[in-house]
Amino acid sequence: MTKTLDTAGARAADLDRIVSLLSEADLPTAGVAEVLDSFLVIRDRGLVVAAGVVERHGEDGLLRSIVVDPANQGLGLGKQIASALIASENRDLYLLTETAESFFTRLGFELIPRTEAPAALRASEEFRCLCPESASFMRRSVESV
Ligand SMILES: CC(C)(COP(=O)(O)OP(=O)(O)OC[C@H]1O[C@@H](n2cnc3c(N)ncnc32)[C@H](O)[C@@H]1OP(=O)(O)O)[C@@H](O)C(=O)NCCC(=O)NCCS
Repeated sequence: MTKTLDTAGARAADLDRIVSLLSEADLPTAGVAEVLDSFLVIRDRGLVVAAGVVERHGEDGLLRSIVVDPANQGLGLGKQIASALIASENRDLYLLTETAESFFTRLGFELIPRTEAPAALRASEEFRCLCPESASFMRRSVESV
């Protein structure tokens, strides 16, 4: 089953809802306010039900905070928001995930060693502090499109 809803840019008033979705999913919330302007969201009758962002680090991007409200999971919204973010970024994208490796494999990401992370990304807070060593590190090269 899929749900048809529009993807839009986040507004300042969406911050609390996005942080609460991330907390509920046990995903890091640090740094979210700083990149709120870059977030894409999907709203259902005004309520944010999915969100995600690409944080820029040098020439590369970190796809992070991809989250769907539990009541709306499995309806294609995660794929919709991640695909929209990927399509809007003409750069190599990286991510860290503990729970959704095969979700991202389907979107063109491949597992790579952390040692292949670009320096600017390695210096990021999510990379250094927020995601545990056990998290999978993945890349989607812009040439792979
Ligand atoms: C991971 C998450 C974003 C997926 O969103 P979703 O809306 O439920 O997923 P979709 O309905 O778009 O699923 C797209 C495809 O991925 C698959 N999929 C969904 N969640 C998956 C997961 N955790 N692992 C592997 N595959 C997954 C679906 O079965 C579907 O497959 P299909 O195309 O063959 O039908 C969502 O489950 C979530 O918010 N999880 C908690 C937060 C999280 O782990 N975020 C990722 C780390 S940044």
